[in-house]
Amino acid sequence: MMERKFLPEVSTFKCITCKKTYSIASGSIRCSCGGLLEIKHDWTLLSPKKELEYYEHHLSGVWRFKPIIHPSIPDKDIVMRGEGNTGLYNASQRILDYAGCTNLLFKHEGENPTGSFKDRGMTVGISEAKRLGMHTVVCASTGNTSASLAAYASYAGMKATVILPKGKVAFGKLAQALAYGAKVYTVEGTFDLALQQVIDQASKDGRYLLNSINPWRIEGQKTIIFELLENLKWETPDWIVAPAGNLGNTSAFGKALKEAQELELITEIPHLVAVQAKGSEPFVKYWESGKYNPEPNPRTIATAINIGNPVSHSKAFEALKFTNGVATSVSDQSILDAKALIDGAGIGCEPASASTLAGIKKLVDEGTILASEKIVAILTGHLLKDPQIIIDYHQHQLENIQSIYANKINIYDHK
Ligand code: F0G
Repeated sequence: MMERKFLPEVSTFKCITCKKTYSIASGSIRCSCGGLLEIKHDWTLLSPKKELEYYEHHLSGVWRFKPIIHPSIPDKDIVMRGEGNTGLYNASQRILDYAGCTNLLFKHEGENPTGSFKDRGMTVGISEAKRLGMHTVVCASTGNTSASLAAYASYAGMKATVILPKGKVAFGKLAQALAYGAKVYTVEGTFDLALQQVIDQASKDGRYLLNSINPWRIEGQKTIIFELLENLKWETPDWIVAPAGNLGNTSAFGKALKEAQELELITEIPHLVAVQAKGSEPFVKYWESGKYNPEPNPRTIATAINIGNPVSHSKAFEALKFTNGVATSVSDQSILDAKALIDGAGIGCEPASASTLAGIKKLVDEGTILASEKIVAILTGHLLKDPQIIIDYHQHQLENIQSIYANKINIYDHK
């Protein structure tokens, strides 16, 4: 595609705490005050709606939205693998009966190139790393970010380093990080510890940090919402429900909805729901009490969201406030019940993603979501990310879990 000319400084970093601004040429990740940076696009310097039409047929479901995610990056720096353009599926009758609602769709982000929504943020993050001339990128991860970083870095010819909490990463994800050729380190302890180490390290040695603390990741993840709204012909659902771990996605969804309103693409704002797993729910407590306390020892079977100190908690709080949303938590048992139903409907997802359906059931039961309202659940990761849990579930081998919807492996009798 031919290169379009944009003014270079249509986008700037702005600290969400002290409001200081920085040029995007600085390559900053965090404000000098320690606050998180957010990217502000100056719509008055662009004609984003007109530009969006130009990119409509782009191969990537992320770069199709270039004018509203990274308008000034030269096309030669874009590293993409045809991410986005994910499917939207009707819930089966069995799922509707389980959740007690009538109008539920699943958007399947597990259909991205490395099997999770992380690719949407990673294509933008790695492209920005290339624009800045970086050679090594780094992240901490519960698994999916590392798989995505490893793939995009190798594809771009960069070196990748990933730090993982030992024994707490699903096999599919660990296998991907190794296969794509990242330098893999494990640490004893939580994801939160791994993230702190990687933030400290990157600030010392100049490696480019690509956790969702990096505001370009958030820009890419906004496209889940833009694409969903486009799928729905810009008619907003009542609720958008997503699993919440480090809270990058919740933050990205709030930003996307705000910008969609600013650009007059939508008039109504759907309510966002952030679903955490019980045992790993610092954000739910923050939302309910207004006081933020990290959870030092988070514990859930949904390893992707086993996070006690979510780095984007303040951005996500604003996102829920803006959308008049809700944060809720669900048990491991209900996550695996919901997963078995999503899997059994032929859609399939990893455990963390199924927290959405468990959360919807809970909120319908409580009367927060009305049975007739239109709901979209975001399935964040592919079923094959965590095959071990599936086999263990169906063989009744998970401790403290009842395998209510288990299927059997039958012995074939040829006689
Ligand atoms: N679902 C899946 C499958 C995930 O991998 C993650 C996060 C989330 C939901 C939560 O999203 O962090 O934006 O609130 N995984 C990160 C990782 C932490 O390292 O792969 P979030």
